[in-house]
Amino acid sequence: MVDYVVYGRGSFNQLDEILSSHRVEGQPMVFLLDHHFENNDAFKSRIPLRGNDELIIADVTHEPKTSYVDEIASLLKNKFGQVSGIIGIGGGSVMDLAKAVSIMMTNDGMAQDYQGYDLVKKKAVYKVGIPTISGTGAEVSRTCVLTGPTKKLGMNSDFTPFDQIVLDPELIKGVPKNQNFYTGMDCYIHCVESLDGTFLNTFSQSYGEKALAMCQEIYLKKDQWDDNSDEQLMMASYAGGMSIAYSQVGVAHAVSYGLSYLLGTKHGIGNCIVFNHLQEFYPQGVDEFHKMVDKHQIEIPKGVCANLTDAQFDTMIEVSLGMKLLWENALGADWELKMNREKLRSIYGKL
Ligand SMILES: [Fe+2]
Repeated sequence: MVDYVVYGRGSFNQLDEILSSHRVEGQPMVFLLDHHFENNDAFKSRIPLRGNDELIIADVTHEPKTSYVDEIASLLKNKFGQVSGIIGIGGGSVMDLAKAVSIMMTNDGMAQDYQGYDLVKKKAVYKVGIPTISGTGAEVSRTCVLTGPTKKLGMNSDFTPFDQIVLDPELIKGVPKNQNFYTGMDCYIHCVESLDGTFLNTFSQSYGEKALAMCQEIYLKKDQWDDNSDEQLMMASYAGGMSIAYSQVGVAHAVSYGLSYLLGTKHGIGNCIVFNHLQEFYPQGVDEFHKMVDKHQIEIPKGVCANLTDAQFDTMIEVSLGMKLLWENALGADWELKMNREKLRSIYGKL
């Protein structure tokens, strides 16, 4: 779990103070800033740079690749030897990138070597996550999803969670409507997949039910988006992340990982594209999702697999079937009797 959590409107202003006791002499704090803020000088000026601190604009046009993690980690090792900490400021991709880079500052080899469960051996450098868009739960998760040469899989380990997160709802104000929706639905889908999964336990249920209720409140019941909606979404993301941390996600994630591996589809929108067609698995959740889509007048892309070759379908199917824990959570220990290549092919065909 995350060691320290600061929540509150304006709490970003405490960052300098939060970091001060973690500074090691001569070693910089490294800020990985979402490229969406690249030209936002007002925001950049609020980042508490001291001494030889480094501000790196994180290019998250594509979700993070293991090669990008290696590139940043070796740049930092060559320039500084070691750093005091890594602070990720941005969306889920930046959260995951910051976690991965901080792991690679202390672990040998390449990022791809650690894609999997409990492969990370050494404690990472101090790491802080500051979300500027909410929903993915990356701020609390025990993984950091990366696309490597052979798979899309996170470094899932006890050393992966942040040491500190700063949850300031002011930072997510004004996220464009579509992006807000896709990322918010990632949270909604986490709740549905967790609550409907076979791995469910009272810990996950407690967080999942609360997060689900907050998503329903802001995306279905309320008629306009306000500051309180930002606050609720930020906490829904946290609670939804806590829910899946002690259970698992399910069919939508397993299928959408294949899609994003092949086509580079981003996580939030990819989940929406898939979840849109999963009535068979989550009838109530998908019905409610359709109501949210209608209410917010969001266009969910269709026909994204229309022109793919058999080989491309096979690639997606391989990646998806590799997510064994997700399938087991969704369909039970005998999931292989319920899901196979043909059935998966027909699901991808619908997208
Ligand atoms: Fe997700």
